[in-house]
Amino acid sequence: MSIQEQLLNIETEAVTKINAANSQVELNDLRAFYMGKKSPLAEIMKSMATLSIEDKKVIGKLANEVKVRIESAVTERRAYLEAEEVNKRLKSETIDVTLPGKEFKVGTSHPLSRTIEEVQEIFIGMGYSIAEGPEVEVDLYNFEMLNVPKGHPARDMQDSFYITENLLMRTQTSPVQVRTLLEKKGAPVKILAPGKVYRRDDDDATHSHQFMQFEGLVVDKHITMSDLKGTLQLFVQKMFGDSRKIRFKPSYFPFTEPSVEVDVSCFKCGGKGCSMCKQSGWIEVLGAGMVHPNVLSAAGYDPKVYRGFAFGIGIERVTMLRHGIDDIRNFYLNDKRFLEQFKGEN
Ligand code: DAH
Repeated sequence: MSIQEQLLNIETEAVTKINAANSQVELNDLRAFYMGKKSPLAEIMKSMATLSIEDKKVIGKLANEVKVRIESAVTERRAYLEAEEVNKRLKSETIDVTLPGKEFKVGTSHPLSRTIEEVQEIFIGMGYSIAEGPEVEVDLYNFEMLNVPKGHPARDMQDSFYITENLLMRTQTSPVQVRTLLEKKGAPVKILAPGKVYRRDDDDATHSHQFMQFEGLVVDKHITMSDLKGTLQLFVQKMFGDSRKIRFKPSYFPFTEPSVEVDVSCFKCGGKGCSMCKQSGWIEVLGAGMVHPNVLSAAGYDPKVYRGFAFGIGIERVTMLRHGIDDIRNFYLNDKRFLEQFKGEN
């Protein structure tokens, strides 16, 4: 076989293989093999040393042409493979813009959380600070220092979950009153304390063994019952509407004297009487009173100098009244059908 034939054979073989290469890696290997220092082409070039000058010229030219053609075959194949790769990706990554998108479910805050936020805002607007206390409370703060000694009949209504004889799940947010007074050591107090409370109770449409309350406490030198009344009137108007009125009914709480239950004029019928207010025109919303001197003195405040008012509001109750919810258990069941109804409110 002449050298020319050998060269052309190498070219045919190389170009055929290059055109059949299916990946860049394969192509690189082929290029290295046919163009490298130990390639068949290089071997032939080396053997040219023995040729005459005439032959060297002819064969050298042909060898170069073969080299150039192999190189351009590689370049073409590379471009082809790249284009194919792009096409493949375009096909596999196509987006059908007509397909329906994934639905992003936007959550809502819980109706009870909304009530807490709103009530807090109302009282913060009146200069109150938010206070907190533990849900596991000592008997001393939950009862004793609130003027409810051991054996007091008022304890019956607030039987609870006891951890030890003197440690219980707090039955009310009122112990935060004691904690705050002890902390303030005789200085004026103006706090709102939201939180969970626990009672051994029947679970029915209006009762739950766990629920939430707001405790309010204001103590200063010249606090009177009219301050309490003005505060609650404003709260009720902001919460239930500008035209709402309140009325005080005498009541009993061991930690206040006098004690009152506070009614708000029915926001459904405006006071005429309907099923919501049981035809009375009034709805009971909270308990309140003037802080009992025993509570003040137990916490180190001189009741001859200091006076105060306190109130307790049921968070679930207020929320049920505002939204016409008839079963307290709805709040705790995590039923989306219930919760979604409060989407977008506030
Ligand atoms: N702690 C009372 C309860 O759970 C509610 C209450 C009534 C709180 C009158 C007060 C108050 O601060 O003055 O039934």
